[in-house]
Amino acid sequence: MNKLNKGLFGLSGKAKETLIQKALEQRSAKAAAQGDAETVRRAPAGRRREVSDDLCRFDKLPGYKELLVQKLAADELKIDNPFFRLHEGTASATSVVNGVECINFSSYNYLDLSGHPRVSEAAKDAIDRYGTSVSASRPVSGERPIQRELEQALASIHGAEDAVVFVSGHATNVTSIGYLFGPRDLVLHDALIHNSVLQGIQLSGAFRLSFPHNDWQALERLLEQRRHEFERVLIVVEGIYSMDGDHPDLPRFVDIKRRHKAFLMVDEAHSIGVMGERGYGIAEHYGIAGRDVDIWMGTLSKSMSGCGGYIAGEQALIDHLKFSAPGFLYSVGIPAPMAAASLEAIRVMEEEPQRVQQLCARSRYFLERAKERGLDTGLSAGYSVVPVLCGSSIKAVKLSNRLLERGINVQPIVYPAVEEKLARLRFFISCAHTEAQIDTTVDAIAEALQQL
Ligand SMILES: Cc1ncc(COP(=O)(O)O)c(C=O)c1O
Repeated sequence: MNKLNKGLFGLSGKAKETLIQKALEQRSAKAAAQGDAETVRRAPAGRRREVSDDLCRFDKLPGYKELLVQKLAADELKIDNPFFRLHEGTASATSVVNGVECINFSSYNYLDLSGHPRVSEAAKDAIDRYGTSVSASRPVSGERPIQRELEQALASIHGAEDAVVFVSGHATNVTSIGYLFGPRDLVLHDALIHNSVLQGIQLSGAFRLSFPHNDWQALERLLEQRRHEFERVLIVVEGIYSMDGDHPDLPRFVDIKRRHKAFLMVDEAHSIGVMGERGYGIAEHYGIAGRDVDIWMGTLSKSMSGCGGYIAGEQALIDHLKFSAPGFLYSVGIPAPMAAASLEAIRVMEEEPQRVQQLCARSRYFLERAKERGLDTGLSAGYSVVPVLCGSSIKAVKLSNRLLERGINVQPIVYPAVEEKLARLRFFISCAHTEAQIDTTVDAIAEALQQL
């Protein structure tokens, strides 16, 4: 199906085409007025196909059309853009948005450690000692003790032999999957897997198959049918799914990967600091050993209050990535202040496990209250992420704007990030949210939804 006909913003395909046309005409008129008229170069007749000037214009790229539709649809319908809102301080359970203090649900600051005095102090000390950048890759610029300390702390959380830290969570998945697997391999992933995993698979050249969300039986059937066609097989799932707030039945996946001689990778971006008594993630939640999963992946940007990503696992895996994965070898090492911030966040989390427990209690409270008010919370299991489904992108955007007017900041998730009918508001809960803030929010959502 043509991407433009999929119901973006609840508009018909024809309405969208009209909007695109309008946008392109407006842009052409503007370009002409600026003396930017196209100069068409013709190749000698019959020798080569003419290369259109459109092919070297960014405003003719197909993806840009989608963007124009969204912007024009919002302008026509007089809806404020809910994205890129300005936060003027640390974003946690509250934040100052566009100059007004709001209850905030758009930050992954799950354990309220970004802005924690100890975490900030650790980052400042590291700046004083090591500066703000390590300026080159670690093989070239050398190691800083804090980088290794962080990796050892991460390895210990996952019960793994070692870990390696990259400067971006997204790039961690892209470069690790992209480097470790190849065209003779198969990667099977949950249908709701994060974009970074998909990008990594694409880079690897491996054959890609997705299985329905959390459906380990479907995964097993795929392996029975296709395992023998490939050399290595990787299965990728998330600890907590970032759009829906639910989790896989991990022991089932461990069992399946063993029986089918496959590797299992778990992206713990949203489950580290959230699941398990101490926040050690989905393995602690299910009581499985670190070695039961082959590749543990996580990000430092969420519970760990920094920036970057990591892989934890057996020594051979970590050494291999450290010496060969392009995203590590040819990219700068994590800056010392970021490593120090995440390391200190881990220490506070370990000393104060009540943060993790409070986060889970507040998340469950949000979920229960939302259900009582008849809100559609989709698949959420009550861990850190609770969506409220709205039925269309336009409704989600309007609802987000209405809530901001009432002092509540939450982001809409619209097509194409999710299917149009599954557009939603996505609430990230923090251990610092109070029950009173949650009550106010749930009541405001229910009332605003009725008015829409
Ligand atoms: C499941 C998952 N994996 C990876 C990433 C990328 O992490 P980062 O934003 O730290 O680069 C994200 C980001 O939200 C995510 O949700």
